[in-house]
Amino acid sequence: MKRRSWIALLGVLLIGIFAFTIVGCGGGGESTEGGSEQPEKLVMKFSHVVAEKTPKGQAALKFAKLVAEKSGGTMEVQVYPSSSLYTDHEELEALISNNCQFIAPSVTKLVKLNPSFQIVDMPFLFKDSQQAYNFFDSEEGQALLHSLEDKGILGLAWWPNGTKNFTNSVRPLKRPEDFKNLKFRTQSGALLTAQFEALDAGAQPMAFSEVYQALQNGTVDGQENTFNNIWTQKYPEVQKYMTVSHHGRLDYAVLTNTTFWNSLTDEQKQIITEAMEEATAYARELADKLNQDAFEKIKESGKLEIYTLTDEDRQAFIEAMQPVYDEFGPKIGEDLIEAARNS
Ligand code: LMR
Repeated sequence: MKRRSWIALLGVLLIGIFAFTIVGCGGGGESTEGGSEQPEKLVMKFSHVVAEKTPKGQAALKFAKLVAEKSGGTMEVQVYPSSSLYTDHEELEALISNNCQFIAPSVTKLVKLNPSFQIVDMPFLFKDSQQAYNFFDSEEGQALLHSLEDKGILGLAWWPNGTKNFTNSVRPLKRPEDFKNLKFRTQSGALLTAQFEALDAGAQPMAFSEVYQALQNGTVDGQENTFNNIWTQKYPEVQKYMTVSHHGRLDYAVLTNTTFWNSLTDEQKQIITEAMEEATAYARELADKLNQDAFEKIKESGKLEIYTLTDEDRQAFIEAMQPVYDEFGPKIGEDLIEAARNS
């Protein structure tokens, strides 16, 4: 073929590709046969790091369903579980740069933005889930949730998970002295490091997506988490012992970014707000139950030797962990701790 024919053929091909791209992507609003424009669908991404069968996984799906229903399908929340879009080291940055519109990190991971979020990790502070929910709903809890707005981050809701318990692969952990020289994975933050130091143990912060492997290859001996995270992450496959300690909590802040939020119409904001309220109520209904179910499954699996702290053991841990209160009380805010205690 002559050179001119090649150029002509190339031109036809390029026009074809261009036309296909325009049609294939819809090019904005979709045209109907009558020529009227359909409103463009608002697609939003919700990234999180846990499995779907957890309180956060279920609440995120519920939120997406409610947004679709309430908007008559003009708004869509795409949920990405299990760090499939971003790991917990990446998701905050992704949110701020508006690459995703919703995340729900464990508040412990917000420590660099506001150390007061570590309140959920204060040892033995909340006696049950209801007390935590009362705190989340209190003036102080709401002020904490909304404390990141000057950083371009808007808190939409507190979502619960539940209480943390220890697992490890070395020995049963019944008393504070049993922790000596063991190394535990932590989510992040100096408070959790101090908690393990108070037990003469080491701490290594690590992304959630890396924990299974770190337990498997012995990089760390143990970790602390809720029953549903322990079960859905399959830690019983790579751990030998579990201590039912309920020594601290793990809860979430559902966050969006202000750039995205300010781009919404009042109606869209209303839909998201209502869907979030309903999804939050759903998470609260579900959290304790999912933890209880996971605890039963862990027991039935027979893979972990389980020890439950007695009242006396518990008192020994409260005393051993007192240095955490001495050091972090002022950093978190004694008033906030008092508010949580009285919730
Ligand atoms: C963890 O890292 O252990 C948890 O924060 C994971 C989660 O989101 O529940």
